Amino acid sequence: MNDILRNIYERRAVRKFKNTPVSKDLIDILLDAGRMAPSAMNRQPWRFYVLTDTKKIKAFSKEIAEIAIKEIKHVSLKEVAKMTLSFFHLSTMIDFLKNDDHIFYGAPVVILITSPVKDEWGALDIGMCAQNIMLAAKAIGLDTCPVGFAKFVTQTRDFYSLNIPGTELVQLAVIAGYGDEQPEVHERIENNAVYI
Ligand SMILES: Cc1cc2nc3c(=O)[nH]c(=O)nc-3n(C[C@H](O)[C@H](O)[C@H](O)COP(=O)(O)O)c2cc1C
Repeated sequence: MNDILRNIYERRAVRKFKNTPVSKDLIDILLDAGRMAPSAMNRQPWRFYVLTDTKKIKAFSKEIAEIAIKEIKHVSLKEVAKMTLSFFHLSTMIDFLKNDDHIFYGAPVVILITSPVKDEWGALDIGMCAQNIMLAAKAIGLDTCPVGFAKFVTQTRDFYSLNIPGTELVQLAVIAGYGDEQPEVHERIENNAVYI
């Protein structure tokens, strides 16, 4: 198997990291890989906000978890009648978030990725960009996890300190670091292709 395919198959969402910091040179390699992603009409809509201050990352993580818990409760009350989401799943999720650091998982690097608020293709472009970052990370010995909950960073008290303008939408974070776990592969659904 060639290196790219191996990276695709061996990448995992890693949620436990060593205390080792990641050098700026390596972070720059990740960002450059992100910039090489395809984008609709070649707009390259991404902007990257890189956090490496572990105290700051922890503080954001704690506050985002609190906000996420509130949002989950809010959504469930409205949606519970029509969704099959049971209260068991809901409470499990809330218990999970209440524990230590279940947003950024103690990662030494958090890359928040934004796209313009009014951009029809923003989410897709950022998804491609994030995947490039994660595969590049794997290639240089780092592990990652995409974090959708990061979108709640906009509701935190210290959001202003990130200098993200109101014209940008936080789509996703990719956390990165030297992994301290080797998660098993999640089985993939395979009966989802139709050959015409
Ligand atoms: C758009 C997106 C958002 C995600 N958000 C989170 C998140 O907020 N927290 C988390 O722990 N994992 C998050 N994940 C990771 C998924 O849970 C993970 O990719 C999935 O379980 C498959 O596992 P694998 O990446 O190891 O193959 C997210 C993944 C994607 C693609």
